[in-house]
Amino acid sequence: MKEILSHSIADTAKFAQEFLAGLFPCADSSTVVGLYGDLGSGKTAFVQQIAKALGARGSVQSPTFVIMKKYALKNPPSLPPLLKGGYRGDLQLVHIDAYRLDSATDLKKLGWDALSSDHSNLIFIEWADRVADILPLDHIKLRFEFVDDTTRKIS
Ligand SMILES: Nc1ncnc2c1ncn2[C@@H]1O[C@H](COP(=O)(O)OP(=O)(O)OP(=O)(O)O)[C@@H](O)[C@H]1O
Ligand SMILES: [Mg+2]
Repeated sequence: MKEILSHSIADTAKFAQEFLAGLFPCADSSTVVGLYGDLGSGKTAFVQQIAKALGARGSVQSPTFVIMKKYALKNPPSLPPLLKGGYRGDLQLVHIDAYRLDSATDLKKLGWDALSSDHSNLIFIEWADRVADILPLDHIKLRFEFVDDTTRKIS
């Protein structure tokens, strides 16, 4: 398990870039990244930096009130090599916040089965523990912890 301390949004941005550089997409389904950790621990801030690194247009707000946001990335120009090789075409960033979902059944109603079986989707889920029973067992897990006002631990 890798662990980093982020002392600023800039550090979180750097970690997001490193994360993307080391990410190898699933071959035959979506790639799912579960984000775990308390309120204010930096989950949304991290996805904002992922979106920025992928060249997603428009600002990534916390999706808590809309639950799901999608950002189609048409042939993004500057993907790290592993991602470029893994996607070979269009990539859709999907940002889900499960905070207001009661269970995995709620996520199913949002069209989870189609989303998760589509290879072009790179899915980040905040509060992944709330829908844990529906996520692929081998999904990537990132834990966020509040250390102090400006410091977050990501493992
Ligand atoms: N090093 C850091 N990395 C990321 N965010 C930081 C850092 N230092 C301070 N922050 C601040 O912490 C807050 C993190 O909020 P964020 O919305 O990302 O948390 P969250 O985990 O998504 O919470 P929620 O569970 O409510 O969705 C932001 O206001 C951000 O500016
Ligand atoms: Mg959030």
